[in-house]
Amino acid sequence: MAIYPVLRSLLFRLDPEDAHHLALALLRVAASTPPSRAWLRRQFDLAGRDQQVECCGLTFRNPLGLAAGYDKDGRAVAALALLGFGHIEVGTVTPQAQPGNPRPRIVRLPADRAVINRMGFPNRGAQALRARLARMPRERDFVLGLNLGKGRDTPLEHAHEDYCALVGDLGEAADYLAVNISSPNTQGLRQLQSRTYLDQLLPAVLGERDRVARRRGRSLPVLVKLAPDLTWPELDEILDRLLAHGVEGVIAINTTLARPGLHSPRAGEAGGLSGAPLRERAREVVAYIHAHTEAQLPIIGVGGIMGADDARRMLEAGALLIQVYTGLVYSGPGLAREILTALRRREAR
Ligand SMILES: Cc1cc2nc3c(=O)[nH]c(=O)nc-3n(C[C@H](O)[C@H](O)[C@H](O)COP(=O)(O)O)c2cc1C
Repeated sequence: MAIYPVLRSLLFRLDPEDAHHLALALLRVAASTPPSRAWLRRQFDLAGRDQQVECCGLTFRNPLGLAAGYDKDGRAVAALALLGFGHIEVGTVTPQAQPGNPRPRIVRLPADRAVINRMGFPNRGAQALRARLARMPRERDFVLGLNLGKGRDTPLEHAHEDYCALVGDLGEAADYLAVNISSPNTQGLRQLQSRTYLDQLLPAVLGERDRVARRRGRSLPVLVKLAPDLTWPELDEILDRLLAHGVEGVIAINTTLARPGLHSPRAGEAGGLSGAPLRERAREVVAYIHAHTEAQLPIIGVGGIMGADDARRMLEAGALLIQVYTGLVYSGPGLAREILTALRRREAR
């Protein structure tokens, strides 16, 4: 959008988290009346219905989604979908409300078109999210994913109980579930990617999912979101377990603890890095998963997609669907339209 550079220069003067909440609030206001919703759709949602993707038994109206963490509490889901996204992943939600780490906990690195965050899953908890989602219209033209995490104080040995409780409480409202075992800001969380924990966690989650799916008479795919900071042997073992337990798909990747070639003076801040510097690693991990599972495991590719070219290359690496987060911070609300228009042109060729 032509005015975004101006809006961005104002937003970038604010603390990043305040700017984020302001952007969400502006969007909700913009989507609050039928005429303004129609205007938003005309401005941003050019996608039409000719970019459908079938993935995990669901039909996505286009391949581009909004990654987890942007709308943690499901406050602006329908408004965000008006920006053109085919799916929105809400969360990470934990069973109980929790404050997350002390602020400031998001740092912009403009010289690197990147962000470092150490949020630690601040959210209002499962009950609040459930109430909010219940108020959403049943009929929707986008896919709703829910990203699930364990509570800060839950020991790893009991983590599966948190995930199962979330599946039971919230599964009914979702089209797919994302099991987040890869955020770097909850102590120990990424250890859940090890074989021992996966063999405890996955059967429990999938069993609870089966109960929810039976109850509502509709399937409920479960995807697992992975970290970028894994060795290839570690990733091999994880993929083996995901396939053995029958998980429906994988989301690759979460933010990284690595600091690849950054120029910004604040590059040493603690937390997970996202945005342009994650691009190569994300693509490499997606290509690896695609090759090593012989395309048996559908992949949502996320990490460093800042524009149409990155999106195209992520799809070429083997992702069936893609997501953005940091790209939206730097490019603004026109990003989905830009990406989807370019992808459509490519298909037409
Ligand atoms: C401020 C911020 C908060 C995030 N919160 C979450 C989260 O709660 N759960 C999650 O799975 N990923 C979270 N992420 C990671 C993103 O979903 C995504 O995997 C990552 O940022 C890479 O994509 P990007 O380079 O397009 O931003 C967060 C990212 C950022 C920048």
